[in-house]
Amino acid sequence: MILNTPIDMHLHLREGKMLRDVIPYTINQFAAAVIMPNLVPPVDNRQRLESYKEEILANSENFTPLMNVFMREYTEDELLDLAEDIFAIKLYPAGITTNSEGGVKSIENIYPVLEIMQELGIPLSVHGETNGFVLDREREFAVVYEKLARDFPKLKIIMEHVGTADLLGLLEEYENLYATVTLHHLLLTLDDLAGGMLNPHFFCKPIIKTPADKLKIQEYVKKGHKKVMFGSDSAPHTIKNKLKGAAGVFSAPVILPALAEFFEGDIETFQKFISDNARENFNIEVPERKIELIEEEWTAPYIVGEVKPMWAGKKFRYKVL
Ligand code: DOR
Ligand code: ZN
Repeated sequence: MILNTPIDMHLHLREGKMLRDVIPYTINQFAAAVIMPNLVPPVDNRQRLESYKEEILANSENFTPLMNVFMREYTEDELLDLAEDIFAIKLYPAGITTNSEGGVKSIENIYPVLEIMQELGIPLSVHGETNGFVLDREREFAVVYEKLARDFPKLKIIMEHVGTADLLGLLEEYENLYATVTLHHLLLTLDDLAGGMLNPHFFCKPIIKTPADKLKIQEYVKKGHKKVMFGSDSAPHTIKNKLKGAAGVFSAPVILPALAEFFEGDIETFQKFISDNARENFNIEVPERKIELIEEEWTAPYIVGEVKPMWAGKKFRYKVL
């Protein structure tokens, strides 16, 4: 099975040794990825953007990093300067997840920024969660998505890592809303995390939810919904930090083998989800690259540097060549 130019629309690579450890697993499967900016300090200015992009390029080949910057109250001049070199700006509500302390405290504060982004055609990427009860956080955020979609009708807004069925309905109601879906929200539920022995390696934000949520997400992905795109949210943490409670699933090594099983030979829909929808929705132009999967048993790695991958040691029916 050959996939054309897979793109991961949501990826955490970190920096330094961690980046060098994890990046081979992405470039082996993806032609491009949208790179998240929640580093310490965040990627929120030209200098940081350039040095981070250089670090990624120095450690990759045949791979296009599509860079995001971290939302803050940018000036018009800053946005004009950044526009050509970024894919989107990532909005984290303050304190909602890993390294988001410097995030947005009140959405109104960034309305001037959103106004300019809309004019310049810079997409907005959103971590959509409130501070409410953990299982309700995404659903409660729906009103914010709706307000943003209404107030900025020409701004393309990406609801990242959708884990709640209710959010998917918004795709039909608002032309300018899009969604990314992760491997873990597509294939797991809260039972996998906490139904038996606690599995901290499946703990992430937003938390994986109910069987009904999973089924709804699967339904949208299986029908090849145009506005639904793959974004892994692969987010490596050392085992030590995972055991201290850090949120994030390091799914990168197993993505295409797991999705190949999920799509059961429906390559056409697989191709849309993994690349075409994103390229068409966002006019992404990156060098094309073919990735081949063969039907041969493959075992997911047990450990990558200091990180335990999702489904470490699990056997898959497909292998990436
Ligand atoms: O689980 C998560 N991990 N969710 C996020 O939003 C951030 C990510 C990370 O950076 O570790
Ligand atoms: Zn993320």
